[in-house]
Amino acid sequence: MSFDKVIVALDFSSATEALKIVDDLEGLVDFFKVGYELFLAEGFSFLNILKKKNKKIFLDLKLHDIPTTVYKATKLILNYQVEMFTIHTLGGVEMMKASLKALREIDEVPSKIIGVTVLTSLNEEKLYETLNTSFELNSLVLHLATRAYQSGLHGVVASANEAKKIKELCGKDFLVITPAIRAEKIQDDQKRVSKASDAFQSGADYIVLGRAITLSKNPRQSLLDILNEAAYRKQ
Ligand code: C5P
Repeated sequence: MSFDKVIVALDFSSATEALKIVDDLEGLVDFFKVGYELFLAEGFSFLNILKKKNKKIFLDLKLHDIPTTVYKATKLILNYQVEMFTIHTLGGVEMMKASLKALREIDEVPSKIIGVTVLTSLNEEKLYETLNTSFELNSLVLHLATRAYQSGLHGVVASANEAKKIKELCGKDFLVITPAIRAEKIQDDQKRVSKASDAFQSGADYIVLGRAITLSKNPRQSLLDILNEAAYRKQ
């Protein structure tokens, strides 16, 4: 199972902690996710540090605001030539198109826009608690993914449960990025979890590994264990 399908989430509040994992994984992983914990702590300068180390960046700020604000924020993000960045599909079709408009105003398109569908920390019960309306979760994710595709986005974040159907509906080139990867069932905030093997078998283009790696005493070994499981299950 290939390492280039792995993105490691640098969910830390300092560059020092984040760079320790980056260095620990040297030679194995070169794609890292910067979410808003690290981004709020270190700002755009951390992106430059990663770029100097020749790492690919997934900037996961999940932009969710009025179209004009998202357009302007996209313009700023594009200055940093990250590989991918996220916006929230629930911000609406107009918002997604505003982000794309900013992208299309640049001659050489440097980044892919990825839509967050329904957070993997939500299940149907949590959605109902929040919205007071029942949704069939798979249908909602598929609906949002289809809207993202129709709006021109490059892909979506979704769980392994939804990846296969998204590929069927939106085509194989529409990227699916799957977080909430767990080797075994543990109690935490993620609800729609999957094993790496299930994510890849469902058609995910990338898996995002967070705490499974970043909380490990031996991140390299944990990464190898996760990928071995995926390779073994593939046979
Ligand atoms: O530690 P864990 O493996 O749960 O980390 C998952 C990472 O993926 C976190 O950085 C989280 O912000 C991110 N993410 C997610 N669900 C989404 C989008 C991003 O868990 N829908």
